[in-house]
Amino acid sequence: MSTTHPRHDVADLSLAAEGERRIAWAEREMPVLRSIRRRFEAERPLESLRIAACLHVTTETANLVRTLQAGGADVVLCASNPLSTQDDAAAALVAGSGVPAGLGSGGGAAGGPGIAVHARRGEDRDTYYRHIDAALDHHPEITMDDGADLVSRLHTTRADQLGEIRGGTEETTTGVIRLRAMAADGALKYPIVAVNEAQTKHLFDNRYGTGQSTVDAIMRATNILLAGRKVVVAGYGWVGRGIASRFRGMGAHVAMVEVDPIRALEALMDGFAVMPASEAAPWGELFVTATGNVNVFRREHFLAMRDGAILANSGHFDAEIEIPALRELAGGHERQVRENVHEFEIEGKRLELIAEGRLVNLSAAEGHPAAVMDMSFANQALAVEWVARNAGSLAPQVYTVPGEIDREVARLKLEALGVHLEPMTEEQERYVRSWQAGT
Ligand code: NAI
Repeated sequence: MSTTHPRHDVADLSLAAEGERRIAWAEREMPVLRSIRRRFEAERPLESLRIAACLHVTTETANLVRTLQAGGADVVLCASNPLSTQDDAAAALVAGSGVPAGLGSGGGAAGGPGIAVHARRGEDRDTYYRHIDAALDHHPEITMDDGADLVSRLHTTRADQLGEIRGGTEETTTGVIRLRAMAADGALKYPIVAVNEAQTKHLFDNRYGTGQSTVDAIMRATNILLAGRKVVVAGYGWVGRGIASRFRGMGAHVAMVEVDPIRALEALMDGFAVMPASEAAPWGELFVTATGNVNVFRREHFLAMRDGAILANSGHFDAEIEIPALRELAGGHERQVRENVHEFEIEGKRLELIAEGRLVNLSAAEGHPAAVMDMSFANQALAVEWVARNAGSLAPQVYTVPGEIDREVARLKLEALGVHLEPMTEEQERYVRSWQAGT
């Protein structure tokens, strides 16, 4: 470990150059974040602010934390999932870099000082929490979370630090649900912005980003043909509908499992079959969960599934497929059959679990394409700035991203894509504002 590097725990610093190349590649697809970074460099709205970020350690996240650094923040990063860390991106962040940013770059992501990163792909549970603790040792004033593990740790074992925190942000649906539960219990001690609730986040990241990268991950892990395959997707939320429509686009027959009547009706009228898990189990050949719930596919379903059925999860936690039951039913008859595919033999049938049931798109592929993380992370950067500016007047509750930030992100994205809106005429402006005009 070089003394010039910040405190860190990453797998292999010699991967830094490769990480830097991939960070620059992602950066090309992130014009909104680049424009925010240019403004942050000029205005330094986060000067000396200590931030602890618990996020998937990917090339896109690298561009986010460098944007915060450009705004003057002192950032430390740890993983929000033990299997999603890209070790090369982690190494590049620690090393900082003189490597020029990629062609088409806005210039400036590379070249900054190193950032403290505590994350190794495949870390065990103890290491995962040790890394969260290392991030908290930084004494953050702002937290950034993806799944609320950092916030939960802070409120349970590090409560003495709560007084130092001004506010935070949360990236994903599951984290927002946990935080709202904390707020309802009166347990949440500082304000947190639910980035997931920005329209420019969940309508695009959850749907198109997770949709594409989940299909990508399953193809990388198994190389199966999707055309004609019977695919069951559990959950017709933003993530599930993205996955279902992408599978359909690849020629699969797709059935949805839903518990909510409105979502089930939407799925039906979008043209998908809808059935309970008990019916789907013997029908399907590939099962994907995206519910944020627990044991969606469980013992009774495994027993009904056909030989060779494949299981994957794209929800936040590895609790959607009842893995302990798979293990118990297999009674030791289990083995690794491909990278990222673990086989369980149950009553003479083989069931294949991808990526240990952890969120498959980040564990068996590279996660969302950068072009969609551009919007999610633009919301993150602007939400951090908003918290920093407004912390004094905020209560300890969950806040939605202010509408003007959401619209600004959409406006910047359209601008970067060279797409122009139709301006309303004065007559139209008057018409939509008036209640008197009927025809
Ligand atoms: P959502 O709340 O929009 O949708 C979840 C859907 O699952 C709802 O329609 C709900 O009725 C349904 N559901 C709940 N329990 C069910 C059950 N037992 N069986 C069938 N359906 C059930 O949430 P969203 O945004 O779609 O997120 C889903 C999960 O994906 C969350 O855990 C979220 O954190 C995670 N996520 C993962 C990403 C990734 O990169 N893999 C990206 C974004 C979110």
